Amino acid sequence: MVSDRFDATTIEQLPRLQIISNFAVGLDNIDLAAATKAGIAVGHTPGVLAETTADLAFALLMATARRVAEGDRFVRAGRWKTWTPRLMLGRDIYAATLGIVGWGEIGQAVARRAVGFGMRILYAAHQSSRVRSFTIPAPPATPVDLGELLASSDFISINVPLTAQTRHMISDHQFALMKRDAILINTARGAVIDQEALVTALKLERIAGAGLDVTEVEPIGADHPLLHFPNVVVTPHIGSASHATRVKMAEVAVQNVLDVLAGGLPGRCANPTVVLRGAKA
Ligand code: GLV
Repeated sequence: MVSDRFDATTIEQLPRLQIISNFAVGLDNIDLAAATKAGIAVGHTPGVLAETTADLAFALLMATARRVAEGDRFVRAGRWKTWTPRLMLGRDIYAATLGIVGWGEIGQAVARRAVGFGMRILYAAHQSSRVRSFTIPAPPATPVDLGELLASSDFISINVPLTAQTRHMISDHQFALMKRDAILINTARGAVIDQEALVTALKLERIAGAGLDVTEVEPIGADHPLLHFPNVVVTPHIGSASHATRVKMAEVAVQNVLDVLAGGLPGRCANPTVVLRGAKA
């Protein structure tokens, strides 16, 4: 699980381990270099969860833009007394500019959804999110550098894996570049954003809101300052959590183990150069 950490020390203590089969596409919970050095294959689940995760990115985008969670709290609290022209005004998604940080499978799936909303799409393909072509072609979108993306986007969606290069890639300097009415969406990993800098940006109204499925520490404490902002929507790391997708992920994760038990590499292998250690090593 993404919550299980396999660092070099843990790996050293597992001398017979042959495969770590991650029930996730992200690999930041595993020291890939240490696993490879120890002759342990690492399997993961690309190719089955991008659409479901992109659905949630869009759900967070819409929820923050149109104040869905806030509106629900308002109604439940018995505060809905009448209709007024200025009640809960939000932001238009239609024709807005969406900046996607990372142009991998999930980033491109988010972009395809944006086409239906008539959005202008920009992307910054960070080196960690290898630019690849997928079965479904990417929609028309303009490549820009990160600075231009941050300065021009109404909505910013984070879709890069967490690596040493992407940790805190969105911090004070990057918030300062954003539009004051920008909304930041993160369905990747919490630590891509410097969370303290995010709290400051929200406090200073440097940005207009955030939709987060991931946080630097998970689970986030119920008393965390982020949860005091009405314009922040937080979900509990459920990007790939549809019935169908979790079944597919389980099938891939199990198949990855079976592949190694049969003497090969996992079908979806994160370290294909690994030289597998013997079963009895
Ligand atoms: C979930 O966060 C994943 O990486 O699949």
